[in-house]
Amino acid sequence: MMMPASPHTPARISVLTSGGGSNLQALIDHFAGLAACAGVITFVASDHERAGALQRARDARIATGVLDAPLDSDALLSLLETAKTDVLVLAGYLKLVPEGVVRAFRGRLLNIHPALLPAFGGPGMYGKRIHAAVLEHGATITGVTVHFVDEHFDRGPIIAQWPVPVLPGDDATLLAARVLRTEHRLLPLCVAAVASGAIVLGADGRVHGHLDVPQSVHAPEWRFALIDDSPNPSPPVATAFTTEVARLFPR
Ligand code: GRF
Repeated sequence: MMMPASPHTPARISVLTSGGGSNLQALIDHFAGLAACAGVITFVASDHERAGALQRARDARIATGVLDAPLDSDALLSLLETAKTDVLVLAGYLKLVPEGVVRAFRGRLLNIHPALLPAFGGPGMYGKRIHAAVLEHGATITGVTVHFVDEHFDRGPIIAQWPVPVLPGDDATLLAARVLRTEHRLLPLCVAAVASGAIVLGADGRVHGHLDVPQSVHAPEWRFALIDDSPNPSPPVATAFTTEVARLFPR
């Protein structure tokens, strides 16, 4: 697996996206800050020339490209190699990545999905449809998954997942917005961990390493952090969600 020549050289991160790019914006903001030592967003491409994500990249003075043949492996590989891509991220990207690119970027190709895979994933499961299906099935918990990409939609070894509560009165729009807030927090952490080498895809096909998850006091659903790395962990605040989880998962 090719990564930056020296551990001190930030990884060059390319992002593929099809839509508005709010996850891209979360990556841009994250790597413009403290995580700049781990990685830098250097190229953004979309299969839609009018994708809002491309404008966000241009506003951040990041090189952009439009994918005329997104399923053409050689064309996409040459674009990514020209951009000297170390890590490739799918952020709201709706096309299947061609096998040649998956092979070339194994262990450094990540995707984010707004559900707890393997549930509510696969071909055709994107955008509001996912959240509508979660509500339709009466699920009380949904969430976010970041995973390494393989040759299939929404499959590949899972790097991290985060639970998000389904609350009374939710519709697909409300639920999607709550899930998206968690996406914007989890994706940059996972990309930084892969870019810095803290998380790797082993030859055994399993994910190795540790994801440091800072604890935020501002997002109740985030506060139910399954990982508490603060020196004096404070007791979780009892919310509708934590009460529900305590009922569903008695320790
Ligand atoms: C997000 O929920 C993402 O997980 C999904 O598409 C949605 C839009 O993402 N794949 P963005 O605002 O374009 O990043």
